[in-house]
Amino acid sequence: MARLENKVAVITGAASGIGRASAGLFAREGATVVLADMKREAGEAAVAEIVGAGGHAEFVATDVSREEDVRALIDGAAERHGRLDVLYNNAGGATSKDGKVTDMPLEEFWRTMSVDLFGTFLGCRFAIPHMARGGGGSIINTTSIRALIGTAGADAYSAAKGGVLTLTKALAMQWHVDKIRVNAIGPGVVATERVKALVRPDDPIVKKSLMGVMEPDDIAYLALYLASDESRRITGAILPAESGASTF
Ligand SMILES: NC(=O)c1ccc[n+]([C@@H]2O[C@H](COP(=O)([O-])OP(=O)(O)OC[C@H]3O[C@@H](n4cnc5c(N)ncnc54)[C@H](O)[C@@H]3O)[C@@H](O)[C@H]2O)c1
Repeated sequence: MARLENKVAVITGAASGIGRASAGLFAREGATVVLADMKREAGEAAVAEIVGAGGHAEFVATDVSREEDVRALIDGAAERHGRLDVLYNNAGGATSKDGKVTDMPLEEFWRTMSVDLFGTFLGCRFAIPHMARGGGGSIINTTSIRALIGTAGADAYSAAKGGVLTLTKALAMQWHVDKIRVNAIGPGVVATERVKALVRPDDPIVKKSLMGVMEPDDIAYLALYLASDESRRITGAILPAESGASTF
């Protein structure tokens, strides 16, 4: 039996990078996958690829920082498919406007907070009632090595991902009674198109990627474990997924 047979999974930021790789993998493992992203064309292309390979998927245009978008995404997925088993809050990522707290544009602080932290908060807010009614579920949040070990120069992003980390633990402590597990993945450097354009080759995290810089699939396989019943007793965990970058 496939590892996600009969499960319904919503993945945000699924039009590219880690989210797209995870959507493909979840579908290959039997899930019905709802891909959410602001980029409609890329999201629909990802769905076409999955469906073309025999999987079940649909795209919902979503801005995760907008309450009504996230409510419609989650409620719609649960209504159309009769249940919601997995929410992977993946949308986000730093931009080149992030930087030092003393001189970065304040708009970029709020953009980062809105997408990475508030977007995750909203996803959890709307998914939890459906999962509780359905007898449980798995929420996978996305933090970062920047929150796990502390790195310099992306101060808004570090703050947002730190918030995601603590939110994850707080929710795990409350919703285990409804059999909802809440965990977070903390990737090191993953060679998505966005990051290839952003991170310098001499960045200490790149230089310390002992097994080489990671690919989106390296994270997708960890997300698959957290989405599946194989991790049925894992909750409140912040799982680093890195190529040795936090070693000394
Ligand atoms: N790639 C890395 O090195 C790395 C490291 C640590 C953490 N992460 C985290 O992993 C996640 C995915 O990163 P990635 O490298 O695959 O990024 P990516 O840029 O390739 O993909 C992110 C997707 O999120 C979408 N998105 C952005 N804002 C959105 C919004 N408001 N609403 C809906 N969708 C939105 C984008 O359109 C894009 O398709 C992010 O949360 C990022 O912070 C990535």
